[in-house]
Amino acid sequence: MVGKLLIYRGLTLSFKAKDLMTDFYAVIGNPIAHSKSPIIHHAFADLTRQDIQYERVMAPLDGFAETVGSLMAQGFKGANVTVPFKLEAFEIASQLTERAQDAGAVNTLIFTPQGIIGDNTDGVGLVRDITENIGVSLKGKRVLLIGAGGASEGVLHPILAAQPAMLIITNRTLDKALNMVKRVEARDEMVYVSVQAHAFDDLQDQQFDIVINATSAGLTDSQLPLPSTIFAPNALAYDMMYGRITPFMAFARQHGATVFDGLGMLIEQAAEAFYIWRGVRPDTSPVIEMFKQAQPST
Ligand code: ATR
Repeated sequence: MVGKLLIYRGLTLSFKAKDLMTDFYAVIGNPIAHSKSPIIHHAFADLTRQDIQYERVMAPLDGFAETVGSLMAQGFKGANVTVPFKLEAFEIASQLTERAQDAGAVNTLIFTPQGIIGDNTDGVGLVRDITENIGVSLKGKRVLLIGAGGASEGVLHPILAAQPAMLIITNRTLDKALNMVKRVEARDEMVYVSVQAHAFDDLQDQQFDIVINATSAGLTDSQLPLPSTIFAPNALAYDMMYGRITPFMAFARQHGATVFDGLGMLIEQAAEAFYIWRGVRPDTSPVIEMFKQAQPST
């Protein structure tokens, strides 16, 4: 087997070349060129001595199912799914894990002779980053989740499972937050957490220990209309976006919160997918460190 070197932002990673024993995986999206997933999974493979190749695959906007079919025909063992195909991935899976059903979306596919299993590792990735890497427990905390789109839905149930004292969901379009609360209330096992939807304007007199930004406002450098008083002493502010300092992050830092971006979540959701596929849990800390050195963002 011939060794291959990849230089990424000054870091050198050694990858194995294809051979017959190698298992193939992919990340499917559109666009996909920016995806860090191949670097992350190859780093995990090196750390755990797993023989895998992981590729970026650009699917046409109207050709997700065909792309998945083609990968399966080529013998790929699984795939991650990113924007804009997480709902389609949910639709094409013949079997869904409980957390995929909770999220209403799929970011990890497992190809088996019996069909496609759909899972979702985003929420567990976020919770693991906050609790294990950052070292802050969600249990008993007052948590504010900003946003009511797909990213927010994807992390809602794992946050509730970590048993905060209360969870407030706020969103520019309040109805979407109210609908998320209704769906939680329809599920008996979640009743031990107080879950409410509030408009931005109704956050004036409230303080939170953990504030999570699950909106896409950072993509357009838009500021969220949050009161500056929402951060409790020693609050954690977490932006699920990675790779830039968003207005939310700058605002939170200015008002005393400790700020993190979504780098750790990105790596933890990948680690969970790797574990599902390979049965081996990679140590994420060296990979997080590698990315932090390559691109200090917070
Ligand atoms: P994603 O899958 O990334 O969550 P989405 O489903 O389009 O994408 O949801 C985007 C989220 O960001 C929504 O909560 C959206 O608020 P609306 O439901 O009111 O549209 C929120 N969002 C995007 N830009 C925003 C902005 N400039 N200010 C406030 N919220 C914003």
